[in-house]
Amino acid sequence: MHGFQRLHMVNEIQGTDGAGKAARRLRKRGGRFGCFAAVLMLTGILAGCGSAEKLTADPGAENGGALAETGTAAEAEQGNETEPAVVTFSDRISRTGDLILVSADHEYDFEANADLELVNIKETQTYDYPVDKDEFMLARKAMSSLDAMIRDCDEAMGSSLTSVSSAWRSKEYQQSVWDEYEELYGEEYVTKYVAVPGCSEHHTGLALDLGITYEDGSAGTFSESENAVWMAQNAYRYGFVRRYAEDKTAITGISNEAWHFRYVGQPHATYMTQHNECLEEYLEDLRGHTSPSEPLETEAAGHAYKVFYTSEETIEEPDGEWTVSGDNAGGFIVTVLAD
Ligand code: DAL
Ligand code: ZN
Repeated sequence: MHGFQRLHMVNEIQGTDGAGKAARRLRKRGGRFGCFAAVLMLTGILAGCGSAEKLTADPGAENGGALAETGTAAEAEQGNETEPAVVTFSDRISRTGDLILVSADHEYDFEANADLELVNIKETQTYDYPVDKDEFMLARKAMSSLDAMIRDCDEAMGSSLTSVSSAWRSKEYQQSVWDEYEELYGEEYVTKYVAVPGCSEHHTGLALDLGITYEDGSAGTFSESENAVWMAQNAYRYGFVRRYAEDKTAITGISNEAWHFRYVGQPHATYMTQHNECLEEYLEDLRGHTSPSEPLETEAAGHAYKVFYTSEETIEEPDGEWTVSGDNAGGFIVTVLAD
C-alpha cells in the first residue's frame, strides 16, 4: 500500500478534558474493559510511552491488548457488539498532517507540529541526486517518495541533473529567504514568490524546490527544463503535487513556481492532478463530502480510497484502514482504504 500508512492517529488526548473524552469513548465501546484501557493509556503517559497528547490507543485494548499505533475498525468493534466504535480527534490533529493548508491566511502551527520528524536529505537519500546544502532536511514520511520521483525523472530524461534546491525551512530561515530576495529583486517580487515567514509550506517539511545541477556543479533553470515538464505530469504518482501553477495564482496567492512541490500523499495527489485542483480547491471540494457514505473517491497504486471531510471531533470509526489529516482550518480529512 504505497503511500498509505497503516495507522492512524486514532485517539488523541489533550489535557484532562481530552483524557475524559478518551475514557468516554472507551467506556462506550468496552464497558469495564474500557476503563481498564483508559487506565492503561494514562499509565502509558506516566511511563513516558509518548506525549500525553499523542498517545494512540489500540482499539483492542479493552480486551486486554497493549497500547499500539495501529488498528482497524474490525478490531475496534470487538469490545462492543451493539454500539459502533467512535474516534475523537483533538484540535491539534486539525493542524497537522499531509493535507494541511499553509498559506497567507493559514499560518503553520509549529507547536502543534512539534513532533515533526525531519531527516537530513543527504544522509538519508537512497539515490544520489545533488542537494544544494548539506543541512537540507525533509519530513521522513516524504523521503522515499522523493528519492523514487527524482530517480524515475532522471531515468526518463537519460541524465542525472535533478537536484534539491530548498527543503524544510524554519521560520527564521524563511525570514532570511524573504530578506535576501527582497534585497535582490524588490518587494513586488518577494510577495509574489516568497511566503510570509510562518506561512510557508516549507515549514511542514513536506515541500521542496527542485533544481537542475550540472556535473560541474553549476545550476541550470529548472522551469525551462524537460525535467519540469516530467515532474508536473508525474509527481502525483509519488504523492507530490506541483503546488503553485500559473492558472491558480489568484487562489494560491503565489506566482507560477515550476520548482515547488508539496507532498500530500498518493490518493490525494492523484485526484488533485486528475481534476486540476490546487490544494485550496481540493479542500473545498472535500468540504462537499461530509458523509462517509458519499465520499470523494480516488485511487492510487491499484487501490481505491474514499475520502471525506468532517468538522466533528467525534465520528463513527470508519470500516477498514484509515488515516486522518487536519486541513489547518479546523477540519479533518479522513481517508479510507476501500479495497
Ligand atoms: N516559495 C514559496 C511560496 C515559499 O516561500 O514558501
Ligand atoms: Zn518552495
